[in-house]
Amino acid sequence: MAKTAKAAATVLLLLLVLTDTHPYRTSAARPIKTVVILVMENRSFDHMLGWMKKLNPEINGVDGSESNPLNTTDPKSSKIFFGNQSHFVDPDPGHSFQAIREQIFGSADTSIDKPPMNGFAQQALSMDPNMPQSVMNGFFPEKVAVYESLVSEFAVVDRWFASVPASTQPNRLYVHSGTSHGATSNVPAQLAKGFPQRTIFEDLDDAGISFGIYFQNIPATLFYRNLRKLKYVTKFHPYDLTFKNDAKNGKLPGYVVIEQRYTDSKIEPANDDHPSHDVYQGQMFVKEVYETLRSSPQWNETLFLITYDEHGGFYDHVPTPNHGIPSPDDIVGPEPVFFQF
Ligand SMILES: *[C@@H]1O[C@H](CO)[C@@H](O)[C@H](O)[C@H]1NC(C)=O
Ligand SMILES: *[C@@H]1O[C@H](CO)[C@@H](O)[C@H](O)[C@H]1NC(C)=O
Ligand SMILES: *[C@@H]1O[C@H](CO)[C@@H](O)[C@H](O)[C@H]1NC(C)=O
Ligand SMILES: *[C@@H]1O[C@H](CO)[C@@H](O)[C@H](O)[C@H]1NC(C)=O
Repeated sequence: MAKTAKAAATVLLLLLVLTDTHPYRTSAARPIKTVVILVMENRSFDHMLGWMKKLNPEINGVDGSESNPLNTTDPKSSKIFFGNQSHFVDPDPGHSFQAIREQIFGSADTSIDKPPMNGFAQQALSMDPNMPQSVMNGFFPEKVAVYESLVSEFAVVDRWFASVPASTQPNRLYVHSGTSHGATSNVPAQLAKGFPQRTIFEDLDDAGISFGIYFQNIPATLFYRNLRKLKYVTKFHPYDLTFKNDAKNGKLPGYVVIEQRYTDSKIEPANDDHPSHDVYQGQMFVKEVYETLRSSPQWNETLFLITYDEHGGFYDHVPTPNHGIPSPDDIVGPEPVFFQF
């Protein structure tokens, strides 16, 4: 059992590193004083940025020659090629541990050294007859125009993988603490109780570096138990009331976490990109955060990172690393997979 768990690993994500890239300013001359992190939801690299290869051939993206069979064990199975027609995605593709294992390895056999990344269409078909088309598709650049502009101006990291082949919260826990404390799924009781591991926030606090969490509705960072301490209550700021002012006044702390709206309503649509949430809302939010930072006096000393928690069930062509991945804390995940890297 443990062996199975060891083999499965991670899925490619999107990361933009936004820094001023003017060649005449050397890195030594511009120390980063503010790091801003925005973690969007449940979309793969190829789905969001794969076709950006058209803008920059150095991006390890797609050209439409990538495909998945509908049935990985049938040599005569029909194939679905990766398309450029992504639009509104509903229903939500699968991204539980078991679903991701099938997407990456094509089956539950995780002993293969280089995962073939061939089970996305098959796993999607097991959920819904139209879903293989959804997961084997990416946005054409002008459909995600904010990313199109950012990709044209800033760095794109195309070798960034989700930490755990699992859903949102285990991956979100990794972002600020380097571990999910063994979690391989979202377990409401565990989340309510809070996770006990040390986080970057305590490290920053000890080092005298300020931090702040700007949230729109629910701060997922409260799933770290330590952040519930009374002394950190002043670190949480309602985004809509404070972010623009703090940026304008040069008052952003050293480590800034932006938490977008994860919940959806007619008046306040979710803007986290999680299917079926409209990517348009996510694009508008990224644009707002970018423009706010860009016009801040702190911009010249800011590093802005945009990433995704996990791939959300969408196809990626780059094989995920699955061997020799060190465990952050030797905690073994729960049954039935006992995931331990
Ligand atoms: C950034 O701009 C401020 C003034 O707006 C200046 O004091 C500071 O030295 C600049 N930092 C760098 C790294 O250029
Ligand atoms: C996939 O193909 C195999 C071999 O042809 C067959 O046994 C199996 O039933 C197929 N699976 C599905 C879901 O059609
Ligand atoms: C996008 O896909 C369509 C249909 O599959 C194809 O005809 C077209 O050439 C593609 N466009 C680009 C720029 O690849
Ligand atoms: C990512 O997808 C799955 C299920 O659709 C969910 O469990 C996870 O929490 C997602 N994120 C959000 C914010 O819904």
